[in-house]
Amino acid sequence: MTLVARRRERLEELASQLRERHGTRAEVLGHDLGNSSGRDDLAAALDDLGLTVEILCNNAGFGSAAPFVRLERER
Ligand SMILES: NC(=O)c1ccc[n+]([C@@H]2O[C@H](COP(=O)([O-])OP(=O)(O)OC[C@H]3O[C@@H](n4cnc5c(N)ncnc54)[C@H](OP(=O)(O)O)[C@@H]3O)[C@@H](O)[C@H]2O)c1
Repeated sequence: MTLVARRRERLEELASQLRERHGTRAEVLGHDLGNSSGRDDLAAALDDLGLTVEILCNNAGFGSAAPFVRLERER
């Protein structure tokens, strides 16, 4: 399992819990997925580790509290 977010320290704690409680492999990569260079760096890091993505759980995002059609397009 590969955990990705901007704040590595939070992911390190989660990775420790996953290893201890579930005996799973868990490595941490710190990348900003909000820009193309961050995404490219992540792809390169996965290549370097010899990892192939089989399942992606994308949790990064933000919410909006209004009907979608009334939201500002830029947002
Ligand atoms: N909470 C709710 O009630 C709720 C309801 C419906 C839908 N959602 C959706 O579910 C998703 C997660 O919500 P949540 O409440 O769990 O949010 P959250 O606690 O803010 O978690 C978002 C995760 O994404 C990471 N992240 C954010 N921006 C990133 C970026 N640019 N690059 C890499 N990683 C990034 C954050 O870590 P870092 O900040 O360290 O990068 C964090 O681990 C969102 O898409 C949200 O819109 C949430």
